[in-house]
Amino acid sequence: MNGNITGISGPTVSVALKGLRLFERVYVGNAMLTGEVVKLEKERAVVQVYEDTHGLAPDEPVLATGTPLAVSLGPGLLSGIFDGLQRPLERLRQDAGPFIISAKEVYALDRSRQWRFHPLKNKGDALSPGEIIGHVSEGRFSHFITCGSDINGKLSWVADGEINTESPVGILSDGKEISLCQEWPVRVPRPYLRKIAPGQPLVTGQRAIDFLFPFSKGGTAILPGGFGTGKTILEQSVAKFADVDIVVYVGCGERGNEMAEMIEEFKTLKDPWTGSSLMERTVLVINTSNMPVAAREASIYTAVTIAEYYRDMGYHVLLLADSISRWAEALREISSSLEEMPGEEGYPTYLASRISGFIERAGVVETLSGKTGSLSMVLSVSPPGGDFTEPVTQSCLRNTGTFLMLDTSLAHRRHYPAINWFQSYSLYAGELLTYYKDKVSPEWEDVQKGCRDMLQKEEALREVVEIIGIEGIQDQDRLLLHAAEMIRSTFLCQNAYTDDAFSPLEKTLSAVKKILDFYKSAEERLKQGAVLSEILTNTKA
Ligand SMILES: Nc1ncnc2c1ncn2[C@@H]1O[C@H](COP(=O)(O)OP(=O)(O)OP(=O)(O)O)[C@@H](O)[C@H]1O
Ligand SMILES: [Mg+2]
Repeated sequence: MNGNITGISGPTVSVALKGLRLFERVYVGNAMLTGEVVKLEKERAVVQVYEDTHGLAPDEPVLATGTPLAVSLGPGLLSGIFDGLQRPLERLRQDAGPFIISAKEVYALDRSRQWRFHPLKNKGDALSPGEIIGHVSEGRFSHFITCGSDINGKLSWVADGEINTESPVGILSDGKEISLCQEWPVRVPRPYLRKIAPGQPLVTGQRAIDFLFPFSKGGTAILPGGFGTGKTILEQSVAKFADVDIVVYVGCGERGNEMAEMIEEFKTLKDPWTGSSLMERTVLVINTSNMPVAAREASIYTAVTIAEYYRDMGYHVLLLADSISRWAEALREISSSLEEMPGEEGYPTYLASRISGFIERAGVVETLSGKTGSLSMVLSVSPPGGDFTEPVTQSCLRNTGTFLMLDTSLAHRRHYPAINWFQSYSLYAGELLTYYKDKVSPEWEDVQKGCRDMLQKEEALREVVEIIGIEGIQDQDRLLLHAAEMIRSTFLCQNAYTDDAFSPLEKTLSAVKKILDFYKSAEERLKQGAVLSEILTNTKA
């Protein structure tokens, strides 16, 4: 179907074209820019163009595709670096140089690549949607090939051996082909049988998180923090060290150079859990601040769909996004160009439902093929002026299980990660205790309680010290202040640029236990008449 442009306002284009559907993908102008239908009226449709609209003019043609914005799913996604519309950036660079050329259509997967397909079904077997028909090896992973939602019937032929990306892997008796790769509309969550309550920790190697505010596999976490509080560094540290199978990282509206550095670093690093290359388990989706704003809105959906695809194979997948606020800003920009009624702080009234719809896609699930897979999310939020009452932080808060408040005053003191230990919380902490006690140490709970108590007592004491001065308090209390300071500066601080960047659970526990043991024995010695200054000097020696 063809139509033409009737009006242009930035990335929003009005078109005269009958028969379009909401969220249908269209090609706009002579340059064939990718766009998506976001509003339909009787005589016109409004299209959100995901690329630079410079030079676009009225009356240029518009082409309908009849399909929604979709991603290509298949082997070859891992180690991939894509933009928000899933164009492979590495291949774009080889073809067209370092600057993205608008409307350059490049298929996300490498069409020339050969895969060795191992069937898990035989001729005559019945297949239903989501069932696994076979697998190929993608690096160290078995990449299971699942049937699309339109597959239902008996296999009349199944492939075995070398095939290429576009070949079928099976044919049903009614002639329908099952392909190695499939397309999936990004805004539609991929189906599963049922959700299962999260119950396994997602170990991050960050002491403050694992010990005090643990993440859960299939759970969700947000890291809100003002400017420069260490959101990006923390997201990247979690992406490097998390004990998951696959990591999908979305650089959404943040600085391009940070992403460039991350790519270079990831290429050289090893996954601490398996020793294999970190990139081998990573997919990067990049829509940084220097790329078109509108595609930023689509980028998190592209990423979550890729993450769900690997979850459906029974893997533990972690999706990280930096930052959800930049995505919400893109949504606001699009909404205002559509002249929609603005809600709080100019965001569209559907901001909260869009955020919860997105976060709902996380969870532990039983997949259509009967496997258990999980999709966890760690999202950074950049509240303007560090004001946590703003709508994006609040909407995220309502939907996530772990809240890590990054504190500007801690960051100013160079206490990194700047996680405020009084304001942050994890709803998973209680249910994960059993795991930590069984798998790491039965002492976990007591030591954790000891640590929290100490930090709390320190806070109360500090208020007293502010009034009467340090000389006014007893040695017992000074000892407590000293031990709490050790917890803060050596246990809760973790420099991302040193070998300390990753701390396994056993090391985390023994580090805090050492401090608590020192405190107990020093307290005992004080009771027996020892002098505090001597105890502290001996410890330093
Ligand atoms: N764990 C850490 N170890 C050492 N330094 C850190 C750590 N976390 C943050 N920093 C320091 O803080 C600086 C700012 O961190 P980062 O860029 O992650 O902040 P941000 O919250 O993402 O900022 P923005 O709001 O601009 O996106 C870093 O350049 C680094 O110097
Ligand atoms: Mg940042």
